[in-house]
Amino acid sequence: MSQTPDRPFPHRHLLSLEGYSTDDVTQILDTAEAFFEVSRRAVRKVPTLRGKTVLHLFYEDSTRTRTSFELAAKRLSADTLNLSVKTSSVKKGESLNDTCRTLGAMHPDIVVIRHNASGAPHYVAQKMDARVVNAGDGMHAHPTQALLDAFTIRRNKGTLEGLKVAILGDIAHSRVARSNCRLLRLFGCDVNVVGPRTLVPRHFGEAFDVTVHDRLEPALEGADVVMALRIQQERLAEALLPSLREYNRVFGLSAERMKLAKDDAIVMHPGPMNRGVEIEPEVADGPQSVILDQVEAGVATRMAVLYVLLGQGEAPAA
Ligand code: CP
Repeated sequence: MSQTPDRPFPHRHLLSLEGYSTDDVTQILDTAEAFFEVSRRAVRKVPTLRGKTVLHLFYEDSTRTRTSFELAAKRLSADTLNLSVKTSSVKKGESLNDTCRTLGAMHPDIVVIRHNASGAPHYVAQKMDARVVNAGDGMHAHPTQALLDAFTIRRNKGTLEGLKVAILGDIAHSRVARSNCRLLRLFGCDVNVVGPRTLVPRHFGEAFDVTVHDRLEPALEGADVVMALRIQQERLAEALLPSLREYNRVFGLSAERMKLAKDDAIVMHPGPMNRGVEIEPEVADGPQSVILDQVEAGVATRMAVLYVLLGQGEAPAA
């Protein structure tokens, strides 16, 4: 494996990146490098977490996060439990507290939770003995997405430090934007967020120490990394946009607009994409796109998160 310091990981949970240092993030990314290699072998399985149990508790829909966490746990030889909320007793009105008490009695080692309420993973961490990983809570945080994005940037750019990053779109509703801003600022990136004023909270720039724009041009000019975000129609409670067509006209990421960024800039999107709204297909599928690299990085990064939190496994390269 690469530079992974063999130090005890100093956090019990991954609820957000608050309180995480550059060393903590680097430890996860270096560990993910070793697991990335494992994921490309003919036999993509190591015995690292044999005997451990990982519980996936998804109260919100997911394709990438859920499947990659499940694959990550399986590739580490952990036992996995997947609670499908839609077919569980949650549908009969069981509270999160009672669900925690019930599942806690089965002694999972780690709980991976996605929930539409900000703070739900913190609540679960208080109620259960297991370690907890936030797989996305409301508009608050999506720390493993930021970690896999950092892994992808580092692999493509060779570093995280000193890059100009543009984050475009629905900043207000985006837990991905919040976690990415926190991580990228830790490494000294010049982070520029851009979107219509209705979709960028007034104090976002100050809160995350990033530059806020309401025009694309200054955000994209000279960017090393361009990250388009999904317009979250399910969270647009009020009419915050005149229309999706108008949004696309002013803020859609096209090949023409990408000419403002550096020639070797990479294009990212956490998915799922609204093609023709926040990103044009020619860009999503174009030569600068690393969107599928992000998906591949998701498995290795989540393996690394499970490994550092559970900590007592055999070495990842075993
Ligand atoms: N990026 C992301 O969280 O995608 P899913 O909602 O498909 O998990």
